Amino acid sequence: MSTREYQIAVIPGDGVGPEITREAIKVLKTIADKQGFKFKLINYDFGAERYLKTKETLPDSALEELKQMDAIYLGAVGDPRVEPGILEKGILLKLRFGLDQYINLRPVKLYPGVWTPLKDKGPEDIDFVVVRENTEGLYLGVGGFVKKDTPDEVAVQEMVNTRKGVERCIRYAFEYTRKRNKKRKLTLCDKANVLTYAHDLWRRTFKRVGDEYPDIEKDFAFVDATCMWMIKNPEWFDVIVTCNMFGDIITDLGAIIQGGLGIAAGANINPEGVSMFEPIHGSAPKYAGKNVINPLAAISAMQMLLDNIGEKKAAEIVEKAIVKTLTSGKLKDLSTRSGAKTDEIGNMVADNILSLVS
Ligand code: IPM
Ligand code: MN
Repeated sequence: MSTREYQIAVIPGDGVGPEITREAIKVLKTIADKQGFKFKLINYDFGAERYLKTKETLPDSALEELKQMDAIYLGAVGDPRVEPGILEKGILLKLRFGLDQYINLRPVKLYPGVWTPLKDKGPEDIDFVVVRENTEGLYLGVGGFVKKDTPDEVAVQEMVNTRKGVERCIRYAFEYTRKRNKKRKLTLCDKANVLTYAHDLWRRTFKRVGDEYPDIEKDFAFVDATCMWMIKNPEWFDVIVTCNMFGDIITDLGAIIQGGLGIAAGANINPEGVSMFEPIHGSAPKYAGKNVINPLAAISAMQMLLDNIGEKKAAEIVEKAIVKTLTSGKLKDLSTRSGAKTDEIGNMVADNILSLVS
């Protein structure tokens, strides 16, 4: 049998990034050992410290290096000492755009043993995936100011939607819905009643591409209604496809109904290139270095990485080990008051992997 070996770039980042990344790597080591694959970690120190010292966020040369990797693992970026937007745009968005990771895949799955604020809803009701466009829309930064800092100031930020960008996102979503093979239903979440140019393109593209997927049920929901249905009837959803900005907003709502930012993970995917995996939560600077943050979202992101590089069995085992941890009764909740330390929760998942495979 040939040995699989993967090159994985690791960007621990700021705040709690390094400590949760450490736990995700602990899990990676445990599962790699059991499943018989190898990996090489290449560490990058992008984040606030480096920026404060060198004024550099992410050099272009690093982007080129990262293109050679099998995957990228990102902890978190963001630091109160740095003006908002610098690290987010300079690192996170530069990676997403620079590596053309045009899909942001965010599962909204309530695991057993996890509390949801939705009354009378359980794991059988909350299990859908948001496919968020990740390289266009309002995030592109096309725009500017006129008469800045005067009473007549105008600020314009354009929502950019290209036919190519919209189509590849929608096509990915149809393929994903088919592969997922659950309800086989794809909901387009838009605001086509107001954004009559931008989201008209989304509607037309959805219908045209959708003709190639007669086996997938098509559904439409305006973004405001989507928010309502996600709370009232989350079981209606299977896969939701949406633009960058709406995807950002509805996935925070999604994270909360699946138990909070302590469990939500996401993947920035370039189906033809290198993808990047991250917990959805931020760098939580006030908890940095305290060993109190629960690393399950970070471990879930590692599970998505394993699935993406082709280690499907490993990903399945990690997910089972997460569920086993959640249902063990050892965690009061997923907050900093869970009753267990960051490294202890990482150890629980690693031990559960061992008990599941041996
Ligand atoms: C996310 C974050 C980012 C986004 C920020 C940090 C730029 O909120 O990954 O959802 O808006 O995409
Ligand atoms: Mn967000």
